[in-house]
Amino acid sequence: MSHQNEAQNAASERPRRPRVTIPELLKMAAEGRPIAMTTAYDAVTARLADEAGVDVILVGDSVGNVCLGFENTLPVTMAMMNHHLEAVARMKPSALLMGDLPFLSYHLGVDEAIRNAGGFLQRGAAAVKLEGGARRLPVVKALVEAEIPVMGHLGLTPQSVHAMGGFKVQGRDGEAAVRILEDALALQEAGCFSILLEGVPADLAKRVTEVLSVPTIGIGAGPHCSGQVLVLHDILGLVPGPSPKFVRQYANGFGLLRSAVERWSEDVRTGAFPGPAESYNLPESAQAALDAWKPRT
Ligand code: KIV
Repeated sequence: MSHQNEAQNAASERPRRPRVTIPELLKMAAEGRPIAMTTAYDAVTARLADEAGVDVILVGDSVGNVCLGFENTLPVTMAMMNHHLEAVARMKPSALLMGDLPFLSYHLGVDEAIRNAGGFLQRGAAAVKLEGGARRLPVVKALVEAEIPVMGHLGLTPQSVHAMGGFKVQGRDGEAAVRILEDALALQEAGCFSILLEGVPADLAKRVTEVLSVPTIGIGAGPHCSGQVLVLHDILGLVPGPSPKFVRQYANGFGLLRSAVERWSEDVRTGAFPGPAESYNLPESAQAALDAWKPRT
């Protein structure tokens, strides 16, 4: 089966659509066509998201908590991100491929940030995303100067979980709301081609979207952004347990898949699997040789 997967995964054998580019995303936003962005972390999820027709695939550092069992995104390293980005890039998605810069990959100086972000582009990404506002301006400017397209990320920035005192909606008081608006403008000024707004009140996201000339992408930021992003595993209901308010599940993926595995293991136990359809036949000539064989004495 794994060999068949190799053939099924071959990016060249799949129906193609035109590659989504940054100018195309800007055009979509200018024309009021909402942008759909989701995460992917490996070849299967990349193919799923891409064939579903999303505009942007983010190899998010959420891979840490969604796939790798960490409590949050802080332990995620560049090595982990590169490993997952390469798997997604091998599927040659038509969606714009974006790499999420993990904690400490852009905090220690612009040279290291350029090397890390540039490494994403060398592995097939067309853009990178990083978290934070005014403090990030020097690094955003340096990346843009190095021809690396950057999406900013404001509001509930998961890499600041300890500074925020938990995963809490941000920008709920006047001062914080104005800071997010000004940070968004500053990031745009520094060259970000888009700003992701996470966990902020819908009215704040609306104001930011009206004020900016670059597109906003929302997650838990209401309906007024230029586009929306959700973690693919949340869309598919693959994460058991209650989901945050801003998630809409389009499938009970976990329940569906668990019951498939339950049925398969039951079939193994009862002998119903594998049947003739899942078995290879022995040619008659080989059967005759087997029948004629006698153990050596
Ligand atoms: O890492 C991630 O998945 C994100 C979300 C905002 C989609 O940054």
